[in-house]
Formats: sequence, structure tokens, C-alpha cells
Amino acid sequence: MSGSTPRRRLLPIISAPHPSGRSAMTCRFRCGDACDHAVPNQSGNEYFGDVVAKALSRRNVLRAGAVGAAAVGFGGLVGSAPAMADPGRGRGRGGGARLRFTPIEPTTADAVVVPEGYQSAVVVRWGDPVLPGAPAFDFDNQTPEAQNAQFGYNCDYVDFFPISDDRALLWVNHEYTNENLMFRGYVDGNEAPIEQIEIGMAAHGGSVVEIARSGRTGRWELVTQGRRRYNRRITAQTPMRFTGPAAGHELLRTAADPEGRNPIGMLNNCAGGNTPWGTILTAEENFNQYFVGGNGVPEADRPALQRYGISTSGDGRAGNRRFDRVEERFDLARHPHEANRFGWIVEIDPFDPTFTPRKHTALGRLKHEGATHALTRDQRVAVYMGDDERFDYVYKYVSRDRFRRGSRRHNSSLLDDGTLYVARFTGDSPEAEIDGTGTLPSDGEFDGTGQWIKLVEGDRSFVEGMSAAEVLIHTRIAADRVGATPMDRPEDVERNPVNGAIYVALTNNSSRTAAQADEANPRAANRYGHIVEIAEHRNDAGAERFNWRIPVVCGNPDDPSTYFSGFDKSRVSPISSPDNLAFDDSGNLWISTDGQPGSIGVNDALHVMPVEGSDRGYLRQFLSVPVGAETCGPFITPDQKTVFVAVQHPGEVDEATPDNPATQFPDGPGGQPRPSVVAAWHTGGGDIGN
Ligand code: FEO
Ligand code: CA
Ligand code: CA
Repeated sequence: MSGSTPRRRLLPIISAPHPSGRSAMTCRFRCGDACDHAVPNQSGNEYFGDVVAKALSRRNVLRAGAVGAAAVGFGGLVGSAPAMADPGRGRGRGGGARLRFTPIEPTTADAVVVPEGYQSAVVVRWGDPVLPGAPAFDFDNQTPEAQNAQFGYNCDYVDFFPISDDRALLWVNHEYTNENLMFRGYVDGNEAPIEQIEIGMAAHGGSVVEIARSGRTGRWELVTQGRRRYNRRITAQTPMRFTGPAAGHELLRTAADPEGRNPIGMLNNCAGGNTPWGTILTAEENFNQYFVGGNGVPEADRPALQRYGISTSGDGRAGNRRFDRVEERFDLARHPHEANRFGWIVEIDPFDPTFTPRKHTALGRLKHEGATHALTRDQRVAVYMGDDERFDYVYKYVSRDRFRRGSRRHNSSLLDDGTLYVARFTGDSPEAEIDGTGTLPSDGEFDGTGQWIKLVEGDRSFVEGMSAAEVLIHTRIAADRVGATPMDRPEDVERNPVNGAIYVALTNNSSRTAAQADEANPRAANRYGHIVEIAEHRNDAGAERFNWRIPVVCGNPDDPSTYFSGFDKSRVSPISSPDNLAFDDSGNLWISTDGQPGSIGVNDALHVMPVEGSDRGYLRQFLSVPVGAETCGPFITPDQKTVFVAVQHPGEVDEATPDNPATQFPDGPGGQPRPSVVAAWHTGGGDIGN
């Protein structure tokens, strides 16, 4: 290993685990203690879904037969030509031929650990200069002005846009802030000096930074001198605009924006994706926690707030951050529509620092985890999205018009008008065989068929009693009404460039009971999560039907409830809480985790697993992150020589403070934990995983 040196651990690494597997501190700052509150989906949809599913299941199985039984449908994917953008070169065909690295042992070491023959190094960290003239980071003398020009806090989604062989732009989301670790003596947002709240607002959003290759290796470094013409900070206060059918709708209008078209800022941007025309899609996730005053909204408006986890009880002033002390729009008692202006997919052009970010209403309003595009067989743009909440749903958007290569002006309207779907998963095994233990049904697989249920097409609603704009703004409520399948926290959804299959990370759901187990979410009290693999009908991202199966039921391989596609469990690495996904150009699935410390007792990690051939299910750990951190990103560069991972919330361990940090990553002795993007590469110049 290399990169950072293991250091003395200052605190025990495992605090009282939350049901999510995270520290209680992470839960407080990340998602406003979502797991401590009632599940927002009180629709009882699982029961309705079951009823619908049973009615449909026989028909679906017959239809699946028409397109090939599930296994045949999946087998047929390999080698078929996905009619999608950038098909991989397919050297290994997902069979793992390239994966020759020696897996690392799961560890609690306070370091970035990589396999033998690899190195790692920090590319950019919280407080590094982004805009020319940004002051050097000074932990004890931070200011809002400095933070507005410096790299933000907790990095999550990472994307990479080459300028030349040795120059590129890096896009990074800044999901949330942890004021307990950013400021000495921080208590809460009620007592915090206003300046600290302003620093927190500036540390959200995202960054565009120019990076340069170091020599001829896979190492990349931040460019800190010169013009850096593309560098940009997006924050909670950046002017944006709405597009699509709900733009201008009454529910989006506020006193400051009576036309409902010009929202300000983005919050809690978690994962993301990009477009075939070279822009970023960044996903607003746990936006609910930034608002106060939910107890002061009219009674009739409360159910919609509650469905998104916004508190409507108590004194409404319990927020950690109290952004309303800086801008009163965050007080829903005064500005009840402001919360409707968050929870969107935001598009940003990394090559245009003057670009006004677009919140695309056609893609619905959720706790968006990410957004991954594919092209349909007829060249329309599909975007796959998860809604990260216990018992929430998986979505797909398909544009009305076709992508035209080279026609940026035309393509930039493709996310304004299309069809929004939500997924229903139907198992093919008898219900009695899905008992919540994870025991495979008698057909040997958790699998079945699925349907993309239409919610909106253009400005036409397919949900009774709701207009198209209402469906797009209150998308969760619309999906409840059409019998979508409640899932175990859908996180990243990614498409395999080699075989065209779609993979959904379901991170965990301790709240699912045995009675609620279904074939797509087969384990009760699912602490460790699983992954669902989707084969669209005819391998077409525009299809309305699909086959699915579960390649991995996560956990310690000793646990009989785990499953690794039948691969020898004695050879696989333990894994828990799959979160972000990526593929190398051989189609191997890379999986980063969020919650291993509290569930399987080791630091979060990056794993890789072939999805085809005899090594399907051979999951191996590639990398481990420092104490208290989760692994985000990951992003493998097009030349396959570098993997970037975001080391999010290092040192986020209960009771850690700046005076008693749980890690000093990345600066070492005397330093404070700083969320960072790290590059890892093969010292011999090999491809990642070789
Ligand atoms: Fe921000 Fe769902 O993780
Ligand atoms: Ca089955
Ligand atoms: Ca995530």
C-alpha cells in the first residue's frame, strides 16, 4: 500500500451503530437521522403492489417466455450490441480476465489501502484553492469568502472530462457538511455564529477543478497555478433555473421568485451522472433536513412534506444547520414552497463557467441518488435514477426526441420533454419460498420480470387525480398510486457498457419485515444490502418491460443469507452497504460502500466483481478508506489507468471533535480530517484491476 501512512487511531472506530451501519454522527449530518423517523412511504404500497403483482405475475412470466426466459434473456445480453452510447471495447467481457490484482484484506487501518503494486495519492481536498486568488486553507480562520473559492466539504460523485492526454476537468459533488468537525466547539445551528452557517452553505454544492497528469503515470494532481479558466464553485446560493413541464408551476413559486422558474442553490448532491453531450447530472438527495417551520405550513400541505421526510411537528427549529438564520426562504412557515425547489436532477456544463445550472423537472422530484444515461435503440436518451429511502423506488426517464451527435443546441433540450417511469419488480418464484431469510427459492435464483410504469409523458399525467406538474413535483406520491415496488434504499443505478445490463445498488433496509420480503428485496432486516441486475427487453433502454435477477446478496460470506451468484464463498471478500457503482471497460462491476464499519466491522471499501463468465460473483476488495469515511465515486478514467474515489466524511466517528479527531487524513499529524478525492493507479502502468 502507499499514499497515506497508517496512523495512531485516536478513538475507537466503531461507535454505536445505527441501523444504516453508519455512525450516529453521519446519520445526523448526512440525512437528518432518517432511520430514526417513521418510514416516509406509508402508502402501504407493498400490499397493493403484491396484489397487482400477483394478478400480473402469470402474464409476465408468459411474456418473459416470449422474449426468452429470464436466464436466457440475461445470457443473450453478452456480446449483443447494445444500442447505447460508448459501448465498451469488451476485452474481458465482464468475465474478470483482467482482474489479476491480489485483493486486500478487509481492514480498520486508518489509511487509504490499495493492493500490492498500486499507489494512491490525494488529488484535491476540502479547502484546496478552486478559484484563482483563493486563500490557503486555514482551519481555525475559515471565512465564507474563502470557502466560496475553495473546494467544498464531503465529496461524493466524481466525474472526469479530458482536455488532453495530461489535462482534465474533475467534477465533484459536495454532498453535505459536518459542522461538528469543521468548527471547534460547534453545538448546533441555533447557537452557531452566522458566519459558520454561511461557510456551511458555501461548502455544499460542487466543484469543477482542472487537474494534470503527473509524469506518465496514472497519478493526477490539482492544478494550483495559472488561469484555470473552467474552475468553478457551485453552492447553496448559486442562481439556477427550472426546465420542463413543472417549471413555473404554482407549487414552485415563492415570494422571491413569483414566476417559479429561478431557484437558488443546490443541496445534498449525492451521486450523479453525465450526458452524451458532455454535461454533468448531479442529484439532490436528502434536501428535507435543511428546512425549518414545517409545523407552520397549512394542514393540507403537510402530507406532501411528510412524504419527503420533512418534519411537520415539534417546534420546527431543530435543524442542525439553521440556514434560515441566513436566508428566511429555508423557513417553510414563511415560504412553504421553497422545499419544492429542491430534490431535482441538476445539469451543469463543466466547460462553461457561466452556465446557469438547470433543475430538470421532467426527471421528477425525489431524494435523487444519481442519474445514469443510456441511449435507446432509436437514439433517445434514457436516464436511470434511484430514490434513496427505505421502501422507495427506482425510476427511468426517456426523452421524447432523439439524440443528435454533434448538435449541442438540440441535445440540450432532451431532458425537458419525455416520459417518466417507475419500476415494478415481480418475482417468478412462489411467495411461500421467499421467507425473508435470504434462502434461495427452489428455482435457484431471486429473479423475475418487471415493468416500467408510466407516470408522465410530456405534460400528460398517467396518475389519476394529479396533473403532470403535480406528478413531477410530488413524484413519490404519484409512484405510490401506481403500484411501484418499494425497494431497500435504491442508491446508484449504473449501466454496464459491455453487456448493456442495468445494476441497482440497494444499500440496506433494516426496517423490512419478513412479511414484507419479496423476491426483489428478499431479506428481512436487510442490514447488508444487495444488488439487482436488470436486462431491458431487447436490451433497449427504451423498453417498458425487463427481466431482473439478484447477483449479490451482501454481507459476510460466512452468513448463510449471502449470495454471490453461486461463486465459492470462501474466496470472496465481505461486503456491506453497496452504494456507488462503476464499470471498467471490460464490464467488471466496481462497488463502493457506505456503512461497513457499523455492519461488518471494517472500514468502507471499493470492491470489484465480474458479472459474466465463470468468475461471476468473484467479489474482491480493491481499496479501503480511512477511519470514519465512506467510499464514493468511483470513477475509472477512459484510459483505464486511474480510479478516482472520493473519501467522504473521514473521521466522522461519534464524539470526535477537532480537538480529538478520529483521523488526521489526509494531512497527517496535527491535521484535521479533510474530505478528499484520491487517485489510485498501478505502479507498472497497468490497467486498474490488473
Ligand atoms: Fe448520499 Fe444515498 O447516499
Ligand atoms: Ca426465482
Ligand atoms: Ca450515495
